[in-house]
Amino acid sequence: MEPIKAAIERARHQRNSGEAPGFKKRSPASAAPVPNDEALTGIEYTHTFQHQVSRDDLAANRVIAQEKRHAFADAYRMLRTQVLSKLRDNGWTTLGVTSAGAGQGKTLTATNLAISMARNVKHTVLLADFDLRRPNVRNLFNYEREGGLIDCIERGLPVEDVLFTPDIDGLVVLPGGEAVDESSELLGTARVSGLVQELRDRYQNRIVIFDLPPLLVTDDVFEIMPQLDSLLFVVEEGKTRRDEVARCMDLLEGKNLIGTILNKSRDSQSSYGYQTPYY
Ligand SMILES: Nc1ncnc2c1ncn2[C@@H]1O[C@H](COP(=O)(O)OP(=O)(O)OP(=O)(O)O)[C@@H](O)[C@H]1O
Ligand SMILES: [Mg+2]
Repeated sequence: MEPIKAAIERARHQRNSGEAPGFKKRSPASAAPVPNDEALTGIEYTHTFQHQVSRDDLAANRVIAQEKRHAFADAYRMLRTQVLSKLRDNGWTTLGVTSAGAGQGKTLTATNLAISMARNVKHTVLLADFDLRRPNVRNLFNYEREGGLIDCIERGLPVEDVLFTPDIDGLVVLPGGEAVDESSELLGTARVSGLVQELRDRYQNRIVIFDLPPLLVTDDVFEIMPQLDSLLFVVEEGKTRRDEVARCMDLLEGKNLIGTILNKSRDSQSSYGYQTPYY
C-alpha cells in the first residue's frame, strides 16, 4: 500500500543491512546458546498450569498457526523462518512485537508467531504479555484463571505461579492480568527488570516473545526495550498512517528492529518482506 511504503522501505533497508547504527549486537559466543534439538528434549514444566483449549476455539480467535494445513498458517511459518534466522545469526533470544497504534495486530501476530516457533521442534517458546493496559493474550487462549504478570509485578507472585501451557507442545504463556493505567511507571521498576531477566535466563534454550503495547500511545515500549534483543513492528494495511510509521521508525532508530510486518494484507502479490493476510 502506497502511503506507508516509504517508511516500510526504510525498515526493510535497516533489516537488510543487518544492523542499524548503534546496534548493541550480542556476540553469538557470549549470548545465550541458540536453541538446538537435543537441548530441548526433556524440559518439564513441573509447575506450569495445563490449560485445555480446543483447536476450534483457538481458530475462532484467529489463532491458527498450530494447524498443519491452513492456508494462513503458511504466512506465520514464513515469518517464523525469517525471524528465527535473524535471532540465530545474532545470538538473540528475546523479541518484542509492537506497532504504532492500538488494534493493529500485535497480539495476534505475537501469538501465532510464538506457536509457529514452538511447532518447530528446535525451539521452546515463552509468550509473555507485557501490554499492561490491554493484556489480551489470555483471551486468545480463552484462559480465565486469575493471575498474571501484573500480580508478579505488584504482589511479587512467582512467575511459575501464573504461567500456563495450552495444548501446544513447546509453548508456555505468561498471561497479563487485570489491566492497569500506570503501566509505564510499573515497567520502569527494578522488579520488572528482574522479571525480564528471569524470563530470559530461566531456561537456556528458549525464545521469549513479548507482546508489547503500541509505540505512539505511551512510553511503555521504551521502558522495556533496552532489555530486549530485537523488535518486530506491525503495520495494519489501510489503517496505519504513513506519518505514524515514519514517526515510529524515527523512534526506533538505532534499535534492533528486525522486521516490519504488513498485517491484514489483502494484496497477495505485494512484495513486502513480511506479510500476514487478512483472514
Ligand atoms: N491478519 C488478520 N486478519 C484478520 N483479523 C486480524 C488480523 N490480525 C489481527 N486481527 C484482528 O484485529 C483485532 C486486533 O488484533 P490484536 O488484538 O492482535 O491487535 P493489537 O495490536 O494487539 O491490539 P491492542 O493494541 O488492543 O493490544 C482482533 O480482533 C484480531 O482478531
Ligand atoms: Mg494486543
